Amino acid sequence: MGAQWPPRARPLLGVCALLSLAAAALLGHVLLHQLAVVPRGLCGCARVPEETYRACQQGAHSPGPQSRPGAAPTQCDVPPNSRFDCAPDKAITQGECEARGCCYAPVGRPGGSRMGPPWCFFPPSYPSYRLGNLTATDTGYTASLTRAAPTFFPKDILTLRLDVLLETESRLHFTIRDPASRRYEVPLETPRVRGRAPSTLYSVEFSEDPFGVVVRRQLDGRVLLDTAVAPLFFADQFLQLSTALPSQHVAGLAEHLGPLLLSTNWTKVTLWNRDVAPTPDVNLYGSHPFYLALEDGGLAHGVFLLNSNAMDEVLQPSPALSWSPAQPRDVYVFLGPEPKSVVQQYLEVIGRPFMPPYWALGFHLCRWGYPSTAVTRQVVENMTRAHFPLDVQWNDLDYMDARRDFTFNQDGFGDFPAMVHELHQGGRRYVMIVDPAISSSGPSGSYRPYDEGLRRGVFITNETGQPLIGKGWAGATAFPDFNPEALDWWQDMVAEFHAQVPFDGMWIDMNEPSNFVKGSVDGCPDNELENPPYVPGVVGGSLRAATICASSRQFLSTHYNLHNLYGLTEASASHRALVKVRGTRPFVISRSTFAGHGQYAGHWTGDVWSSWEQLSSSVPETLLFNLLGVPLVGADVCGFLGNTSEELCVRWTQLGAFYPFMRNHNDLHSLPQEPYRFSETAQQAMRKALGLRYALLPHLYTLFHGAHTRGDTVARPLFLEFPEDPRTWPVDRQLLWGEALLITPVLEAGKVEVTGYFPAGTWYDLQTVPVEALGSLPPPPLAPLKPAIHSEGQWVTLPAPLDTINLHLRAGHIIPLQGPGLTTTESRKQPMALAVALTSSGEARGELFWDDGESLGVLERGAYTQLVFLARNNTVVNDLVHVSSEGAALQLRRVTLLGVASAPKQVLANGVPVSNFTYSPDTQTLDIPVSLTMGQQFLISWS
Ligand SMILES: *[C@@H]1O[C@H](CO)[C@@H](O)[C@H](O)[C@H]1NC(C)=O
Ligand SMILES: *[C@@H]1O[C@H](CO)[C@@H](O)[C@H](O)[C@H]1NC(C)=O
Ligand SMILES: *[C@@H]1O[C@H](CO)[C@@H](O)[C@H](O)[C@H]1NC(C)=O
Ligand SMILES: *[C@@H]1O[C@H](CO)[C@@H](O)[C@H](O)[C@H]1NC(C)=O
Ligand SMILES: *[C@@H]1O[C@H](CO)[C@@H](O)[C@H](O)[C@H]1NC(C)=O
Repeated sequence: MGAQWPPRARPLLGVCALLSLAAAALLGHVLLHQLAVVPRGLCGCARVPEETYRACQQGAHSPGPQSRPGAAPTQCDVPPNSRFDCAPDKAITQGECEARGCCYAPVGRPGGSRMGPPWCFFPPSYPSYRLGNLTATDTGYTASLTRAAPTFFPKDILTLRLDVLLETESRLHFTIRDPASRRYEVPLETPRVRGRAPSTLYSVEFSEDPFGVVVRRQLDGRVLLDTAVAPLFFADQFLQLSTALPSQHVAGLAEHLGPLLLSTNWTKVTLWNRDVAPTPDVNLYGSHPFYLALEDGGLAHGVFLLNSNAMDEVLQPSPALSWSPAQPRDVYVFLGPEPKSVVQQYLEVIGRPFMPPYWALGFHLCRWGYPSTAVTRQVVENMTRAHFPLDVQWNDLDYMDARRDFTFNQDGFGDFPAMVHELHQGGRRYVMIVDPAISSSGPSGSYRPYDEGLRRGVFITNETGQPLIGKGWAGATAFPDFNPEALDWWQDMVAEFHAQVPFDGMWIDMNEPSNFVKGSVDGCPDNELENPPYVPGVVGGSLRAATICASSRQFLSTHYNLHNLYGLTEASASHRALVKVRGTRPFVISRSTFAGHGQYAGHWTGDVWSSWEQLSSSVPETLLFNLLGVPLVGADVCGFLGNTSEELCVRWTQLGAFYPFMRNHNDLHSLPQEPYRFSETAQQAMRKALGLRYALLPHLYTLFHGAHTRGDTVARPLFLEFPEDPRTWPVDRQLLWGEALLITPVLEAGKVEVTGYFPAGTWYDLQTVPVEALGSLPPPPLAPLKPAIHSEGQWVTLPAPLDTINLHLRAGHIIPLQGPGLTTTESRKQPMALAVALTSSGEARGELFWDDGESLGVLERGAYTQLVFLARNNTVVNDLVHVSSEGAALQLRRVTLLGVASAPKQVLANGVPVSNFTYSPDTQTLDIPVSLTMGQQFLISWS
C-alpha cells in the first residue's frame, strides 16, 4: 500500500504553511523560524517532493474561511474513510453535532457494534491550535500552540508548549504540555539526552495552522507522521491527537486479542488494564501504546505515546490513527529503518528485558485444584514416571490459608516447606501465585501483611484517607500501592514467607488490579475522575468496572492516572524483592503489564479458553509481546478455561514448546490436562515436543541474552527478518526463534498437513529428538529426514501428523543443541551438538551464550562464555569471544552439517581424522561425531 499523502481530508489551508525543515535538518543548523516566513497562501514547498508540491498547489486554490464552532460548516465532502470523529464521547444528534461546528452525515456506518466512519466529523476547517514562536534550541525546537476559541470539551487548555527533541539519529521525541500547571506525568524513567542529534534518516516539519508535527523519511520523502490531519484537542481530561499513517500495516497497540497486524478498517483498541478472559475487541490485562508500521519496500518506523491513562486508539482506512487519552505526555518516533531496529530503539526508551534464569526456560506445570502437597508431589512423580521433563512445579490459590497471600494452609499444605525442599533436591524449582490484594477482614493482629501494611501506610486510600476496601479471592481486601515507600514492606513480606517456604519465583496475578466489586465495597465518590467527560470504550462502560475507584489515592497520583501501571509496579517491586531475598536472578510472571514491563518480568496471556481459536491467537500474542520487549511470554498450554481435548492438548504442547515461556496450566473446574493424563500416542507426541525444546534450550537462552543486551526479539514474526517480502507481513500462524528457526505449528483440529510461508532461501527440516534418546549420550542428532526446501518465497504444504511440529533451520545459521534431560539441572550437564545449515556457498554463523544460569551480574563480572561459530570453505571453527569456567568445560560431541553436496573423503577434527562420520546423500547431511571442548579453539574440516 502506498503512502497516501496528503490524505484527502487534509485541512487545506494548513498545507502551504508547512515549514519545510527537510533541508534544515540536513544542514543541521538552519534556524527554523527563518523558514517559517513562507507567506501564507503561497506555496513555499519547492524543496519537498512532487506529491507534496501538488498538494500545495491544491491548497493554494482552496477557499479559506474557517468555520467556528456553532455555525454549521460548509465543507463536509470528506470521504468517509478520512473522517475524524467529532463525537468520540457520545452518540449525538445532527443538531448537537452541528452545534459543535462539525459535519453530520449518517452514512456508511454498518449496523451492530462494529465501528465505521463517524457520522459526526470534523470539517477540514475545524479550528485547531496554531503554532507560533518556533525557536531552535540546543536539543531541538520549542514553540507555543494557541487555540483561539474553546472546543466542546470542558476545560480546554488554550495555550500549550511544544518541545521537540532530536534525541538520536533514529529517535525523535516531542511533548505537548500545559505550561501553566504541573500535570501528572508517567513515572517511567526514559533516557535524558543533551544536545540535538543530526539525522540523515528523517526530517521534521511543522504545520503552522492547523498545528501539526510532520516527520518525513529522508530516503524517499515519505511522510511517516502527520498530526495535522485532524484538530488537536487538549483539555483538562481529554486529549485527541491524530496522525496519518503511511501504510495499512500496523502492529502493536497491545494488549488485544487478534491478528498481529491490526485492521485499519475502523478498529478501536481500548487501553485500560482489566481482568477479563481474552476476547476480541475488549481491553485486556495490559497497556502498550506503541505501534510499529511497515512501509512499502520493507522499511519501518514506530511510534510510542507515553501515556498511562485510559485511552482509545482508533485506526481508520485513510489510513490514520487517533489517540484519545485523558492526559498527554510524550510522543516518541523511532525511525528504524529496519523493523528490527524499530524494536531496539523502542526498548532503548522503555528498557530492555531482564535476563531470565536458565530454569525459567524449562517446562512449567500448574493447575488450580492441586489441593495438597500430597497431590502436588504425585503430579511431579507422575511426570517423572512418564518421562516428561518438568523444571518448575507451581501451585495456584490452593496452598494459601483462607486465600491470603504469604500464608499456607495446614490441611493440605502442612509440610509445604518440605515439599519445596524436595523439589530442589530433584533439581526442580517452585513458583506460587501471589495476588496483590491483601486481606483486610481479620481482627487486628491476626494477619501481619495487612497489619504491617496499615502501620507503614502502604495501601491505596479512598476519599476519606482510609484504605480503600474491595473484594478479592481472600474476601475483603486492601490494595498496596507499589510506590517507592511500599517496596520495603513488600520485600519484607516476601522475605518472611521465603524464610518459611524457599520458593524460587513469583506468579503475580489479578494485578490490573482486579476487584470483585465495582470500585470499592463502599462504592466510589461522584467526581470528575470517576465520571470523566470522555470514557474510553472499556468493558463494563465505566473505569471502575472490575477494579478500584479511579479517584482513589496513591502516593504519586490518583488511580485514574496510575491504574495502567499497577501490574508494572507490582512486577518491579516483586523483582526487586526477589533479588534482595534470593540473591539470584529473579523470576516473575505477571498478568498485567505496561510499557517497560519486560525489564522486570514475563507475561502469560491470562485466562484463555481451551479452544482452537485461542491456540491460534496465542501465536500473534506471543509475537506481539516480543515486539513490546516482553519476550518471556506464553499462553497456558492446553488452555485454561474449559476442558481441553487430547488432540488440542497435543497441538498446544507442540506450539507451547516454542513459546519462550512454557507452562501448562488449568482451571479448577476443568478435566485434568497434565501430559501424562493422555493416551500413549498423545504422550509420545508431547514428549517429542518437550524433548525438542530441551535440546534447543542453549539456543533459546542465547536469544534471551540478545534480547537483554541488544533489544532483540526471541520469538519473532517473519516480517522482522524478511521485511522486504510483503508476503511475510501478515504471517502470524508461524513464528521464528531468532533469525533461523522457523516453526510451523498445526492450529486446526483434524489436520495432518500444514501450510506455511517459507521466505526465499533454503530451509532444512529438523527431525525431532527420538523419545528414547532423552538424556542419552551423545546428544541425538537433530538431522533432517526430508530434503531441504529451496523456496523462492512461497507457501509450502508439509505433512504434519499428530506427533510432528514442523521445524526448519534457515541456511546460513548454526545453532547449539544439548542433550535434553528431565530438568535443566540435568540437561545443562549434557554434551552439546551443533546443527550447521550451510548456504549454497557453504557458509553459516551462530552463537552461544552460557553462564551458570542464575547468578546476578554475570556480564559485569565476566562470568560467562560467549562463542561464535563460523562455517566456511569446508570448515567449522569457534571464535572464543569470552570464556569463563562455566563454559570452558562444555563438551561438543556432534556436528551435523546440512547442505553438504557430496560425500567427503576425509573429515578432520583439529587435524585428527574422524573415521565414523556418516553422510546421507538424500538429505545432504554430514554427521560428524567429535570429542571436543566448546571453550577451546577447534577446527573441523571435510574434503
Ligand atoms: C509568541 O510569544 C509572545 C511573547 O511571549 C506572545 O505574546 C505571543 O502570543 C506568542 N505567539 C504565539 C502565536 O503563540
Ligand atoms: C471494511 O469493513 C466494512 C464493513 O464490515 C466492509 O464492508 C468493507 O469491505 C471493509 N473494507 C475493507 C477494505 O476490508
Ligand atoms: C498419579 O498417578 C497415579 C498412578 O497412575 C494415580 O493413581 C494418581 O491419581 C495420579 N495423581 C495425579 C495427581 O495425577
Ligand atoms: C473509606 O474506607 C473505609 C474503610 O477503610 C470506610 O470505612 C469508609 O467508609 C470509606 N470512605 C468512603 C467515603 O467510602
Ligand atoms: C579453502 O581451503 C583450501 C584448502 O583447505 C585452501 O587452499 C584455500 O585457500 C581456502 N580458501 C579460502 C578462501 O580460504
